[in-house]
Amino acid sequence: MDLKQILERIVNDQSMHSKWLNTLSMMENAGARKIKACEHPLLVSEMILKHASEEARHAYYLKKQLSKIQEGACPTYEASYLLAPKQSQFYLDALDLRICKWLKQSYHWTGYELKYAAYLLVTYAIEVRAEHLYPVYKDVLTSTGSNVKVNTIITEEEGHLKEMKKQIHILFQGDERVATRAEETEQILYEEWLQALSTYCKS
Ligand SMILES: [Fe+2]
Ligand SMILES: [Fe+2]
Repeated sequence: MDLKQILERIVNDQSMHSKWLNTLSMMENAGARKIKACEHPLLVSEMILKHASEEARHAYYLKKQLSKIQEGACPTYEASYLLAPKQSQFYLDALDLRICKWLKQSYHWTGYELKYAAYLLVTYAIEVRAEHLYPVYKDVLTSTGSNVKVNTIITEEEGHLKEMKKQIHILFQGDERVATRAEETEQILYEEWLQALSTYCKS
């Protein structure tokens, strides 16, 4: 099944749809926490503060959308309230780990320099994915007449992607291969995640 087919199944089942929103919320929150973990305590910029706060807001916004489907469903991020819990929780950490390893080997960065470079590339790859995933989800929501909305998230993710592209261009002095490398790393993890979701939907 492709993403659209998976989402059609999910949205047509209240319990799965609640877990899907909760899973997205958990992943957005993991993104916000990762950004906070990367930031320099003194040199943090307005751009990073804005980015972390918007990802945290996405987590909250998605959690709030849950009440439109099932009041009180999925109160926490425990595995029983998530879709494909293992792969969903593993995705961001695995991406971060793989990109950090590659950056260390290729650039010999350490400390906050490494954290900042990893923040840019990990977030870039996620934003590319978000730019694909949220519009597909939005179309499924529209075609099924759901009142769940993700429009504001889409607008903010577009802004994040633009910003990450700009900052990567500056840090890596126009070397576009780093972005491609990040996308390739993410693609592998995304396919594993999609496969897990697909299995979940069929069971
Ligand atoms: Fe987000
Ligand atoms: Fe984002």
